[in-house]
Amino acid sequence: MATTRFRTTLCDMLGIDFPVMLAAMAPDISDPKLVAAVSEAGGIGVLACADKDPEEIIALAAETRKLTGKPFGMDIGLPARVETYGHDFRAAAAKAHFPPQHLALRERFLQERGIPFDDDAARATPGMSSVASFKLGETFSREQVKAILQARPALFVSALGNPAFMVAEAHALGIKVMSLVGKVKDAVNVARGGIDAVICTGTAAGGHSGDVDGMVLVPHVVERVAPVPVVAGGGIVDGRGLAAALALGAIGVWVGSRFIASRECSAPDWYKQRIVDAGDDATVRSKWYTGKTCRHLRSEWDTAWDASGLAALPMPDQALLTTPMALGAASVGRHLESGIFCGQGVARIASVLPAHEIVTRMIDQARDILQRELPARVSFN
Ligand SMILES: Cc1cc2nc3c(=O)[nH]c(=O)nc-3n(C[C@H](O)[C@H](O)[C@H](O)COP(=O)(O)O)c2cc1C
Repeated sequence: MATTRFRTTLCDMLGIDFPVMLAAMAPDISDPKLVAAVSEAGGIGVLACADKDPEEIIALAAETRKLTGKPFGMDIGLPARVETYGHDFRAAAAKAHFPPQHLALRERFLQERGIPFDDDAARATPGMSSVASFKLGETFSREQVKAILQARPALFVSALGNPAFMVAEAHALGIKVMSLVGKVKDAVNVARGGIDAVICTGTAAGGHSGDVDGMVLVPHVVERVAPVPVVAGGGIVDGRGLAAALALGAIGVWVGSRFIASRECSAPDWYKQRIVDAGDDATVRSKWYTGKTCRHLRSEWDTAWDASGLAALPMPDQALLTTPMALGAASVGRHLESGIFCGQGVARIASVLPAHEIVTRMIDQARDILQRELPARVSFN
């Protein structure tokens, strides 16, 4: 643990030592082991629960509590307009009406590469099993919210949608509420719902990310939602990112990709290695995996879609089309095709480290920048 104190109002709000949040990453990346490691290091881990049934949510909270007595959060999406297909991925995929050209593209892609279509081995592939049980819909997310309130973590985070409907109940139980946004308009909307902080991620962020650069987005959101505080995310991998986020007006950082390359992360070694090896032009944003703009390592799947001239289907249909492809590819070790979500910050991730070391280095470096480097570089006379 870093030797010095490094407190912001985020620390007071959540009862933590350092203003560093492990971003929720589904499926099963931000799992109890990684969450507990970050919370034990003095930050706060946030469990990825988007694809979990209510019973699984209760079990995940219990498992996390066995590993740490420190505060942790839980994260799900709150889709308002996504059609409810039911809770079963295969049933949902069977009901979706895929256009024939989209099906033909997938079939050609798989055939040309000798990749099996969603075979059973895929679900046994480490890190891929729960993708096969992708859950969807508004009704389902309301059941998840009930389970999270019952589990009583320190924090609830909505990955998508507006949590205003559950804020009063969460607060009555002592649970703080935050919401993830990528646009000023959405930030203003969620802030009106009485949440405790807005988490805004710039376009460098891994997974679903917006169009606006964090350098522009964060100070704009800070001004527009005040006095609601802001946490900054997207491309933050070290103390330089933390110090910059504080300078932009944020009270802490929401960090995803850096923690994938941590020893406690359960992602397979090939996934971590690809992140360590990735350069600054390795990621792209596309709608080819989920139907919503998403940042990931460039893959052959992108190349095939770009060349096809087809438009992506809306979420969740594109995910239903693509997931069997990603599962099949992963099952035969074809990781170039299977899709790896991560942010542009991967360019500056050079090794796999224990989670506590990632937090400690981040805090020590930010302290050094704020206490020594900046005062030495700036003078006022
Ligand atoms: C593999 C992966 C999975 C993700 N899954 C979720 C999720 O389930 N819920 C969520 O709120 N955000 C999710 N995100 C977005 C992260 O919470 C976070 O905003 C992002 O990782 C921050 O950018 P960074 O990766 O550059 O640090 C995911 C991101 C990645 C890379």
